[in-house]
Amino acid sequence: MSATGLVIAVDGTSGSGKSSTCRGVAERLGLRYLDTGAQYRAMTWWMLQHGVDVDDAAAVAAASARPDIVSGTDPRDPTIVVDGRDVSVQIRSDEVNRAVSPVSAVPAVRERLVALQRDVVGDGGIVVEGRDIGSVVCPDAHVKVFLTADPSARAERRAAEEGGSDIASTQESLLHRDRIDSGRAVAPLVQSDGAVEIDSTHRSLHDVIDLVVGLADQSPSTASER
Ligand code: DC
Repeated sequence: MSATGLVIAVDGTSGSGKSSTCRGVAERLGLRYLDTGAQYRAMTWWMLQHGVDVDDAAAVAAASARPDIVSGTDPRDPTIVVDGRDVSVQIRSDEVNRAVSPVSAVPAVRERLVALQRDVVGDGGIVVEGRDIGSVVCPDAHVKVFLTADPSARAERRAAEEGGSDIASTQESLLHRDRIDSGRAVAPLVQSDGAVEIDSTHRSLHDVIDLVVGLADQSPSTASER
C-alpha cells in the first residue's frame, strides 16, 4: 500500500448524508472523492436521452457499454461528464430519480461501472460513496462506514438539497428506491463485513465527518502512511 493508498468506503441509503460526509472527509484528509451514485445516474440519464426503455433490462444491458462516463474526483468540485458533457445538474432530475434504481439493477450496468470505479480508485487515496463499495467495489477498504438516518430526516435533507421539494413525496421516492436497491439480486445495499454503522439522524454533519476521520486515524494500516 502506497502513502496515498488509504481507501474509505461509505455505503448507505439515499439521503443519509453520504455525499456531504464523504466530501468533507476527503477535504479534511486531502483525499480524492468518488460519487458512484452519480455514475449510475449518468448512465440512467444517457439511457433516457437515447430513448432506451429503462424497464427493459435487456435493452439497458445492450446499450450499457455506449456512454463515455468520466468522474472528476476533486471533493471541492466533483464533476460527472457523459460523452463530453457535464451533466451534474441533469442527473438530479425527477426523471432520473425515478429511473435510476431499475437501471442500477441490471448486471451489465454494474459490471461496467464497477470496472470504471476500480480504475478510478487505483492505488487509493480516496473516499468512495455508494451502496456496494465495502461489499463489492473495494472489499479491502481500510475504513468501511454504513451511514443511516431515519427516513424523515433523510427526506428533509434531500428536499432541501433539491431546492425545497415536497418532503412527503421526497420521502416516498427515497423509500421506493431503498426497496429496489436493497432487494435487487446483484450487489444489494447491505452493511458489509467490518463496516461501522453511523446513524446521522441526530448528529451534525461536522460530527459525522469527525467520526469518519477518527476511524481513518485509528486504522493501523494507514495512520502512519498518510
Ligand atoms: O447515491 P444516489 O442516491 O445518488 O444513488 C442513485 C442510485 O444509484 C441509487 O438509487 C442506487 C444506485 N447506486 C447503486 O446501485 N450502487 C452504487 N454504488 C451507487 C448508487
